[in-house]
Amino acid sequence: MATPTVLDGRDPRSIERAVERLRQRQAVAMPTETVYGLAADGLDAQAVAGVFDLKRRPRFDPLILHVAEPAAWSAVATGMSEAGRRLAEAMWPGPITLVAPRRAGVVPDLVTAGLETVAVRCPSHPVASALLRVFGGPLAAPSANRFGAVSPTRADHVVAEFAGEDLAVLDGGPSDRGLESTVVRVVAGEPVEVLRLGAVTVEAIAGVIGEEPAVRASTSRPSGTATEGKSAEAPGMLDRHYAPRTPLRLMTAADAAAIGLSERRVTGLLACDEAAEAIGDGFAAKAGLGSRGDPAGMAARLFAAMRELDAAGVTQLVAVPVEPIGLGRAINDRLARASA
Ligand code: TXA
Ligand code: MG
Repeated sequence: MATPTVLDGRDPRSIERAVERLRQRQAVAMPTETVYGLAADGLDAQAVAGVFDLKRRPRFDPLILHVAEPAAWSAVATGMSEAGRRLAEAMWPGPITLVAPRRAGVVPDLVTAGLETVAVRCPSHPVASALLRVFGGPLAAPSANRFGAVSPTRADHVVAEFAGEDLAVLDGGPSDRGLESTVVRVVAGEPVEVLRLGAVTVEAIAGVIGEEPAVRASTSRPSGTATEGKSAEAPGMLDRHYAPRTPLRLMTAADAAAIGLSERRVTGLLACDEAAEAIGDGFAAKAGLGSRGDPAGMAARLFAAMRELDAAGVTQLVAVPVEPIGLGRAINDRLARASA
C-alpha cells in the first residue's frame, strides 16, 4: 500500500525533492503558519485537478494561489482596491487571503471554479516560503484534509488523513496560528468584505483600512446556498465544514455543567480551561483549549483538540463557544460549522 512520505521541511534537499514532485504534477503537503496545505502547480490545470481528486473536493470550491513574495500577486490578479493594497502591504507575508479579479489567460478556470476573481495569499512559514521560491511560481493549496474534515495543523495529521496515498509531506512543525487565513474580498470600486473569518481578526483589518469591513462570514445565513453546479462564493462558508466524524453539539457552560453522569461517560468535552474546570469531571475525554485569556493559544490548539476527541471513541462531542471578540469570533465560527 502506498503511504505518505514525511520529509524534514527544514532540509534544503527535501525542498528539492518536493519541487521535483510538483514538476511531475504530484501534490506535496506543505506547512504554513495557518494549517497544512496540499500544494500543486497553480497554473497547471492538470496538476490542480489532482489536488481536487486527492481531497475529494467538489470542483465548485475554488482554491487559494500562494505566492513567494507580496508583489507576485499582480502576476495572477488585477484590479485590487486601494484598501486591498494596504492590507497586502501591512499583513503579507501572513495569514490573510485577498480576493481580486483574476488575470485573464493566466489562472486556470479550475483554480477559481470559474469565478472571475482569484484568491491570493503570501504565507509567512519559512518552509512554505522556501518551497515557493525554489518552485518559482504560484502554488494552489487548499487545506490538506479530505473535503469537509478538520484542517491539519501537524504533519502527522496529514499522514493520518491521507493514509494509503502516495504523497510527500514536508514537516515544518505544528502550525503556530492553527486557524485558516482570513479571506477578504478587495475588488476595486467595491467595499471590503470578509468572506471567511480566520487568523487575522476583523479588528486588525479595520485598523489597516480605517473602517469596519462588512463580514459575510455568518453561519446564520440559510444553508444550501452553495450547491453543485453553482460556484459558491466562499465555499469555506459551507455550513458544515471543519467537522470531526463524531457528532458535535454547541452548549453554554451552564448547560454543559448540567449534563448528567451517565451522559458524561460517553461524551467528549471541548472548552477553554476555565470553563472545563467549572463544568467538572466525569467526561470520557476532555480537551482544554488553554486559558480564555490567550485566544491565540486557543486558536492554535483548536483543530488538534478536535482530532484528539474524535479519536477518543466517544458517541458525542460537546463544545463550549469562547468570548466572541478578536480570534474568538473565528474560533466560534469553526465550532459552529463543526456542529452544523
Ligand atoms: O490558511 C489557509 O488559507 C489555508 C492554507 C493552506 O493557506 N488554505 C485554505 O484553503 O484554507 P481552502 O481551500 O481550505 O480554503 C480556501 C477558501 C475557501 O473558503 C474558498 O471558497 C475561498 O478560499 N476562495 C477561494 N477562491 C475564492 C474566490 N475567488 N472568491 C471567494 N472565495 C474564494
Ligand atoms: Mg479547507
